[in-house]
Amino acid sequence: MNLEDREQQLPPPTQGGSLHHHHPRRKNPYQKRLETTASKPRAYVILLLVLAFALGYLSHSHPLLSSTASDVLEHNSFPAPCAEPLPPSDVRRTILSRVFNNTSPWQSFPPLHARPLLLKEWTKGWGSQMPVFEHLIEQVRPRTIVEVGTFLGASATHMASIAKKLGLETQIVCIDDFRGWPGYYDEEKKSLKMVNGDSLLLYQFMQNVARANATENIIMMPFSAGTALGGLCDWGVYGDLVEVDAAHDFHSAWVDINHAFKVLRPGGVLFGHDYAWDGVRKAVHIFARLHGFQVKLDGEHWILY
Ligand SMILES: C[S@@+](CC[C@H](N)C(=O)[O-])C[C@H]1O[C@@H](n2cnc3c(N)ncnc32)[C@H](O)[C@@H]1O
Repeated sequence: MNLEDREQQLPPPTQGGSLHHHHPRRKNPYQKRLETTASKPRAYVILLLVLAFALGYLSHSHPLLSSTASDVLEHNSFPAPCAEPLPPSDVRRTILSRVFNNTSPWQSFPPLHARPLLLKEWTKGWGSQMPVFEHLIEQVRPRTIVEVGTFLGASATHMASIAKKLGLETQIVCIDDFRGWPGYYDEEKKSLKMVNGDSLLLYQFMQNVARANATENIIMMPFSAGTALGGLCDWGVYGDLVEVDAAHDFHSAWVDINHAFKVLRPGGVLFGHDYAWDGVRKAVHIFARLHGFQVKLDGEHWILY
């Protein structure tokens, strides 16, 4: 029996009175039934959504959230190995080929539009000439140095001059996105010219390298740190010395140190600047603890032994 049939069975309302008044219990069941029938699909949908959410949460939460110490270690250990090491004599050629399509970035440098804008002399840096560089280059006598965070090349050109002085054939791979950091233009306004949103940091770095007579010993990787280190890892480019001096917040320092360690030649030395920064210090010590290194200090720099 459907609703209409039932309504037809009801006695007609008495004069002057309402159905509600005379049969107060008859109307309510129909109303209730109507409401229940209408709200059921909604209830099913809600139930289905809750079930889907619970299933999704349960199936994804397990692999993403670590419950044991070994899981935590695995999630924090950048484990895929890098390629077989290239001979140091192939490092520069490999980067010229993979990054610069086998052309020299110094050919016809600087380009005409940038020429009048570059400064002849401008090598701002931070602790870029500290004794740590000489100490480590004398100790390790590196064929390949990887520097993560180069800015205007102050530390890179300094390392190049030390290596030359020691008679070493050292290739320095400078990794930087050459974007500085948000707000850096405010600090460097007096020096930098802006061309269509670009502050010419890469060109000024190259100018400084040319001026230091180090174009044969320095080659840059103008990418973000993780991408560039990933490339070196894939090509088997390892550093005897690897220096980390890019962004100094904990997460950046942590990721940079882990990626940098992967391209450290066995027996090489990993070091970096700005131990005084909280984020850097934390990342260095967690990394040292996980990998069994000791942290030594040389001026503002940390060194892992
Ligand atoms: C402190 S400066 C490097 C100074 C240099 N080592 C010296 O002593 O002259 C930091 C540099 O890291 C670069 N940098 C920061 N985060 C980066 C990232 N994720 N990838 C690539 N470069 C980055 C910035 O562009 C900046 O040039």
